[in-house]
Amino acid sequence: MEEVKEKIDEKNMVNKVGLVEAGQSKEEVEQLQQKNSDEALIESEREKTDHPRGWDSNILKKMDIKVWSYLEEYEKEKDEIHSAIKNVLESGVLILGDHVKRFEDKFSNYCGCKYGIGVKNGTDALFLSLKALDIGPGDEVICVANTAVPTVAAITATGATTKFVDINPETCLMNIFKLKDAITEKTKCILPVHLYGQCVDMDKVKEMADEFGLKIVEDCAQAHGATYKGRKAGSMSDVATFSFYPSKVLGTFGDGGMVVTNNETLYERIKGLRMYGMRRKYFSIESGYNSRLDELHAAILLKKFAHLDEYIRKRQEIARRYGKLLTDTSLILPKTAENNTQVYYVYVCHHPKRDEIIAKLKERGILLNISYEWPIHIMDGYKYLGYKEGDLPHTEASCKNVFSLPMYPELSYEKQQKVCDALHDVLREIE
Ligand SMILES: Cc1ncc(COP(=O)(O)O)c(C=O)c1O
Repeated sequence: MEEVKEKIDEKNMVNKVGLVEAGQSKEEVEQLQQKNSDEALIESEREKTDHPRGWDSNILKKMDIKVWSYLEEYEKEKDEIHSAIKNVLESGVLILGDHVKRFEDKFSNYCGCKYGIGVKNGTDALFLSLKALDIGPGDEVICVANTAVPTVAAITATGATTKFVDINPETCLMNIFKLKDAITEKTKCILPVHLYGQCVDMDKVKEMADEFGLKIVEDCAQAHGATYKGRKAGSMSDVATFSFYPSKVLGTFGDGGMVVTNNETLYERIKGLRMYGMRRKYFSIESGYNSRLDELHAAILLKKFAHLDEYIRKRQEIARRYGKLLTDTSLILPKTAENNTQVYYVYVCHHPKRDEIIAKLKERGILLNISYEWPIHIMDGYKYLGYKEGDLPHTEASCKNVFSLPMYPELSYEKQQKVCDALHDVLREIE
């Protein structure tokens, strides 16, 4: 930020001198200074921010339309959120109290599962689930390389090795017809990622798991409420994991996660693992961790949970409108996989001139995103797994062309129309 400030000051100085000499009024000079600051900030964002997960908040304030925002939703729900926080603070219980238990029960029930264990985040939810399945060094876990890094980070943290399978280019989900090739005698688990808000073909995953005696852990961080053959994401495996990171379909104002399962033994084990391995007070029966969802986030999530189906309905409506407004363009719009109901965690498109489109929309105050620009198998941090470019051709091709349009329940019709108008203009310019 220091560099940006210097850039702004430098530019303003030049302008101020020049304009004052040219006889401009004080207001005009100030207006131009403001414009220069905005441009310099946006410019600096192109040069990369220091936050790997998002953008500099100053840049976000300058953009007219963001790819995601919680502010409009917060404005609507402010009173209930504030009263939930107040209730917790006045209750005298901040850790593992009634709010966590109630949220665990409600959310696991919503997913069609008997048990829920609130944990610190979605990454821990995956890690603890794999640990509870006794997955560790020498074992292999199969997933995809176009997921969020935490999926693979969680596998790595157990000491197990990640094996990647390529994706179906139409849906960007795990290509289940490639699964068999990835299975070895070391394989212990298949970890399907319900990416972008829709489910992997779970009947096929189950078939394969049964044939080879493997466990299944569903990564549902992006798929709260999504269904496959009428079954909810999270209900089709040994154990399933969710994230309540703010941008998720159900998100809090910070970090949170949950494991859901129908298996009582796994439930008890994960409940212990999240709390230093304790089964009763101050007595660990195994070495564990500290990964608890806290009362404040559980209370907020309980309030937001009441709106979950409405959030999903609004996301679906926005997606439907994108489909209508962008149907006659060269953009490849998201395809719903067979037997699925999508919840549109993100609205992803593909286009060979993706980078140009993103740059040109940014000039118009519209900030898009890429989920995900680099497949994990070619990242420096995972080179040791032994993959190289070309090993997962559909994954790599998708990462080169994929990008996401603004998507959040309170995205207004006007903003969406503006995004689509800008896309039409830009596509005409570059084609
Ligand atoms: C597919 C997927 N898995 C796991 C995670 C990890 O969740 P968290 O950020 O809550 O640790 C995320 C969130 O980014 C995700 O999108």
